Amino acid sequence: MNAPGTARRAPGPRGIEVVRVLRDFQRSPLPTLERLARQYGDVVSLVLPGHRALLLAHPSLIEHVLLRRSDRYRKSRGTRAGRRFFGDSMQLNNGERALAMRRRLAPLFTFDRLVAAHAGPVVEETRAALAGWTPGARPGLTGELMDLLLHIMVRTHFGTRGADTRRVGALYAEALGLLPGFGLPGWLPTPRNRRYAAAVATLDSAILERLAEQRRADRGDTDLAAEFARLGLPDTQIRHELVSMMAASYNTVGMTLVQTLRLLAEHPDADARVAAEAVAADGETPDVRRLPFIGRVVKESLRLCPPAGLMMRFALADDDVGGWPVPAGTRIMLSSWLVQRDARYYPDPLAFRPDRWTPEFERSLPPCAYFPFGAGARSCIGSVLSDVVLRLIVATIATRFRLEAPVTPPDRTAWPLLMADGGLRATLAAR
Ligand code: HEM
Repeated sequence: MNAPGTARRAPGPRGIEVVRVLRDFQRSPLPTLERLARQYGDVVSLVLPGHRALLLAHPSLIEHVLLRRSDRYRKSRGTRAGRRFFGDSMQLNNGERALAMRRRLAPLFTFDRLVAAHAGPVVEETRAALAGWTPGARPGLTGELMDLLLHIMVRTHFGTRGADTRRVGALYAEALGLLPGFGLPGWLPTPRNRRYAAAVATLDSAILERLAEQRRADRGDTDLAAEFARLGLPDTQIRHELVSMMAASYNTVGMTLVQTLRLLAEHPDADARVAAEAVAADGETPDVRRLPFIGRVVKESLRLCPPAGLMMRFALADDDVGGWPVPAGTRIMLSSWLVQRDARYYPDPLAFRPDRWTPEFERSLPPCAYFPFGAGARSCIGSVLSDVVLRLIVATIATRFRLEAPVTPPDRTAWPLLMADGGLRATLAAR
C-alpha cells in the first residue's frame, strides 16, 4: 500500500529496510533475491534517494522489457575501466549501432558453421587436458576446468595453437584479473593499475600480431578472428569484439561446465546415460547431433544454475510494467535465477530432471520462462557455440572419467557468477 501523497509504486522494502536489503544483497545476492520475491511478489521496487530499481520475476514482464518494448530500455554501458578494456564493442553499445554489428556477425554463429569450425579444436584441447588427469582426489578441479575453458576459448576466438594459446590465455586472464573495479579509479598510477595497463598493452599487441599474420596469408582459418577479418572489420574493431566476447564466454561457459559436472556427480543415473551416449558417439571428433541427452543435461543445468542469473536494463522513457509505473532512469533487474526455479512453470523446480525438456514441455512454456541467454535482439550471440562446446567437453570427459561425490555444493552467495565456493572438490574415477 502506498502512503497518501507518495507516487504509486510497486511493493517493496521501504526506508532503512532498503539499505538492509542492499547490504544483504552484497553478502548473498541470490538468497536475497529469493526473499524479496517471496515477500513482495513478481514486481519489487527498491527506492533510495536518487535511485530507483525494479526487480522483475515474471516471464510476461521480462518479455515486455526484453522483447515487446525493448526500444524503451537500454543495456548498461559498463564501468569506465570496462569500456577501456572491452573497447567500442557491440556488447557495450545500444541502439542501431549494436544491431548493425549484430546482423553482420550473426551468420558466423550458426550450428553447422560452428560445429565445422570448432568441434575438432574443442575435442583436441579437452583430450590434451585429460591426458594429464589421473584417478583420485582432485582438489583443484574447478581451476583445471577453467584453464581448459580458457584455452578452448582463446583458440576458438584467435585460432592460436599450443604455446601461443597458453601465452594469450595467460595475458587475457592477467588483464581481466587486474581490471579495476569499484575501488581506486583506473587512471591513478598505482602499481596495480600500471600492471593492468601493461597487461592490456601486451595482450593487444599479441592480438594485433595474430591479425597481421592472418592478413599476410589467409590460410582459410575458421577461428572467429579470421572470420571477422574476412567480413572486412578493421583490426581494432576485431580486437574489441573478441576481447569482449572472451569475457562473455569464458566464465559463463566455465561455470556451466563446473555446475553440470557437479550435477552429474550427484545424479549417477543421469551420469550413466551421459557416459553411454558419449561412448556411442565417440570417434575422432564426436558428432554433436548424436549427443541429445547431454544437450538436455546442459539445458537443465543452465535452468538451475544460470551463470548470468540477474540481468540489467535502464528505462529510457517513462513506462508501465505489470500495471506499475516505471519512471525514466529506473534500473530494471531481470532474474532468470528466480523465474527458472519457479514452481508455476517447472514442476518440482529444484529437482535436476533433464528429461523434462521434451518438445511438448518446451512448447508449453511461456516466452521468457527460460532465458539463461537473455532474450530478444540482444540475447546471447554465443548460445549455440556454448551448447556445442559444452556438449563436446562433457562427452569427452565422460568417455574417460566420472566424478564421485562428495562434491562441494554451489555457493549461492557468489556473484555475478555462480562460482562454487573454494571450487569443485571431487574424486575422479576412471570409467
Ligand atoms: C553458458 C554460456 C553463456 C551464457 C549463460 C551467456 C549468457 C548471456 C546473456 C544472459 C546475455 C544477454 C545479456 C543482456 O542482454 O544484458 C549474453 C550476451 C552476449 N553473449 Fe553470452 N553467454 C554465454 C556464452 C557466450 C559465448 C560462448 C559467447 C561467445 C561468442 C558469448 C557472447 C555474448 C555476446 C557478444 C553477448 C552480447 C550480445 C549483444 O551485444 O547483442 N556468450 N550472454
